[in-house]
Amino acid sequence: VNAVLDSRVDLHETLCILRVRPDGGSVPQFEPGQFTNLGLFDASETPQTAPGPPSELRRAFSFASPPAQRDSAEFYIQRVDDGHFTQHLWKLQPGGRLWLDERVYGNFTLADVPPTSELVLVATGTGLGPYLSMLRQHRGGERWKRCALVHSARHQADLGYRGELEALARRDPTFRYLPTLTREPASSSWSGLRSHVQEIVEPAGFERLAGWPLDPATAHVFLCGNPQMIIDLGGQLAESGFRPHRRRAPGQVHSERYW
Ligand SMILES: Cc1cc2nc3c(=O)[nH]c(=O)nc-3n(C[C@H](O)[C@H](O)[C@H](O)COP(=O)(O)OP(=O)(O)OC[C@H]3O[C@@H](n4cnc5c(N)ncnc54)[C@H](O)[C@@H]3O)c2cc1C
Ligand SMILES: NC(=O)c1ccc[n+]([C@@H]2O[C@H](COP(=O)([O-])OP(=O)(O)OC[C@H]3O[C@@H](n4cnc5c(N)ncnc54)[C@H](OP(=O)(O)O)[C@@H]3O)[C@@H](O)[C@H]2O)c1
Repeated sequence: VNAVLDSRVDLHETLCILRVRPDGGSVPQFEPGQFTNLGLFDASETPQTAPGPPSELRRAFSFASPPAQRDSAEFYIQRVDDGHFTQHLWKLQPGGRLWLDERVYGNFTLADVPPTSELVLVATGTGLGPYLSMLRQHRGGERWKRCALVHSARHQADLGYRGELEALARRDPTFRYLPTLTREPASSSWSGLRSHVQEIVEPAGFERLAGWPLDPATAHVFLCGNPQMIIDLGGQLAESGFRPHRRRAPGQVHSERYW
């Protein structure tokens, strides 16, 4: 183990924000949107002789903090029912030891997106994490022309970072925050959107909500989280002329599947 859990904020029983501080004093260099691995030793297992934790107790997590913050890294994490890693992670308290991979991974970044682009950032659940890193690093920096963030969650309590994102939308006229809740009781205080992201990221609905058209000539769409959402919405976007982005075959749809 080479890191310590600096702090944890439990938003509810199965959703938390962790801050991890590496012993070496500095988080590896990364691009907003990238991920690394966290690892834990299960007390019942014999530690291996090879460096790093047993592979079954290592999982990928997207950085939610901006790269400019070097002393600790933030992660937005959902505990999965009966999840092998997250059930152990949930027992870890501040001061507890864990492993933070020294390498970073992934192409789910703004590297191939020109600063004149419109950005549509779509997340389910903790798929919000990489966008926090992008927004925190680049806000106010003219890294995009305008940006809409669509975050789908089950209930109000699952809308992590809501205050920060609402404040950003109030300050920055180029940024729209569009949270949507799919299991909030009809009787609740929630007066916002209640549809799946597919109903929001379609041409007519999107223009009404974001105030600008959804156009593959000007926009890049990022999809993160639930793999079925990525398949479904990716197919729907193809009908509007959007293509998956690959380094060798540039397109406008970037995706990161969490499972
Ligand atoms: C590139 C990448 C980045 C990731 N970043 C994050 C992150 O920032 N935050 C985060 O919470 N998770 C993230 N994940 C998911 C994470 O790596 C683990 O899969 C997750 O924590 C579950 O691990 P587990 O051992 O508890 O569950 P396992 O015992 O491995 O069970 C896995 C099963 O749980 C379900 N599952 C996995 N992840 C999720 C999830 N987030 N929400 C709902 N169901 C899920 C799926 O059905 C999956 O088959 C990321 C995954 C990838 C590939
Ligand atoms: N024990 C608990 O109290 C508890 C509570 C919450 C979560 N969990 C655990 O956490 C895991 C993840 O839950 P989560 O809510 O973060 O993630 P999730 O199940 O992926 O749901 C997040 C959001 O994505 C939506 N969604 C799901 N599939 C979609 C699709 N194909 N297309 C478009 N939108 C889709 C959901 O809508 P829908 O509402 O329609 O699914 C919800 O709004 C669960 O599998 C469970 O293990 C446990």
